[in-house]
Amino acid sequence: MEIKKVMVIGAGQMGGGIAQVSAQAGYETVLYDINMELVDKGLAVMDKNLSRNVDKGKITGDEKDAILGRIKASVSLEDAQDVDLVVEAIVENFEIKKQVFGELDRITPPHAILATNTSSLPITQIAACTQRPEKVIGMHFMNPVPVMRLVEIIRGLATTDEVYQVVEEVSKKMGKVPVWCKDVPGFVSNRVLQVMINEALWELYEGVAPAENIDNIMKLGMNHPMGPCELADLIGLDTVLAILNVMYEGYGDPKYRPSPLLKQYVQAGWLGRKTGKGIYDYSK
Ligand code: CAA
Ligand code: NAD
Repeated sequence: MEIKKVMVIGAGQMGGGIAQVSAQAGYETVLYDINMELVDKGLAVMDKNLSRNVDKGKITGDEKDAILGRIKASVSLEDAQDVDLVVEAIVENFEIKKQVFGELDRITPPHAILATNTSSLPITQIAACTQRPEKVIGMHFMNPVPVMRLVEIIRGLATTDEVYQVVEEVSKKMGKVPVWCKDVPGFVSNRVLQVMINEALWELYEGVAPAENIDNIMKLGMNHPMGPCELADLIGLDTVLAILNVMYEGYGDPKYRPSPLLKQYVQAGWLGRKTGKGIYDYSK
């Protein structure tokens, strides 16, 4: 099956990046969000990323224009009626994803593959919200999408070999290295990563050290490019909390119990870089 047209649902930090690598790979790409302001915000970030690549001599101005020319803005899910592949990247909330997958299943042509960029939710459960579970798959990009090389691929119980192979090929065409794992809460990536981030947030809650010290210890001592507090702010604290809750419920194991401080930050609307304040303050 040949993929020509891709639709990305959600123009936030992940969706915008996925649309960029999709258009860079030569796919006709539709970028959807619930209003035009959000789509434009996603496109503006992409424009900035591509301009930086032009300045560095990595691509020409004409190539930048061609990439952006392959992207169509959308505020209607009905635009999915002629796509071959959907990559969903909306909030990490099962009930909202369920509603959107139901709609996509109704609108998209029968051959279309419905992929989700979920960080933790069971692919099998999302697939069961559609009449085509064999065409639903996890296509888990990493943040920031244009830079990180991995796409973690997760098959649901019913996902066919053909769908897996197509998504593996598409990931490679997008310049990524696909690596599969089984459909368990948090997959491989977040089952490891979020336990570390949560532990850092417990340390912060207990006053073991300030965030700067926790981050410096992990950067200087373990050669991590970012400390866990900086990384949590990059991911978004709402997303970190949602992932931990999925794993806490999914495994029933207290090791995934979110730090009370994390819950408080989310209650305060301090979600990290995307809101200008999280564990750190980005307002300046
Ligand atoms: N978008 C696009 N490009 C970006 C970018 C962004 N947001 N941030 C940085 N870059 C580019 C820069 O332009 C630069 O490109 P060149 O190599 O062409 O010059 C390159 O990335 C390196 O950037 P910098 O030199 O400015 O900064 P850096 O060396 O500190 O790297 C970083 C920045 C790549 C983000 C690095 O800090 C890093 O790897 N951090 C860890 C990121 C990580 O762990 N991501 C996974 C999060 S978990 C996840 O995604 C899964 C989930 O479900 C939550
Ligand atoms: P984000 O908050 O930056 O963006 C989410 C976007 O989805 C918003 O612009 C929102 O308006 C939009 N959206 C579109 N339709 C929606 C609807 N019906 N209801 C609610 N929102 C809707 O989030 P993000 O960080 O881009 O994460 C998106 C998905 O990608 C989540 O499932 C998340 O777990 C996953 N993910 C996130 C990261 C990360 O580091 N942030 C990494 C990998 C995967």
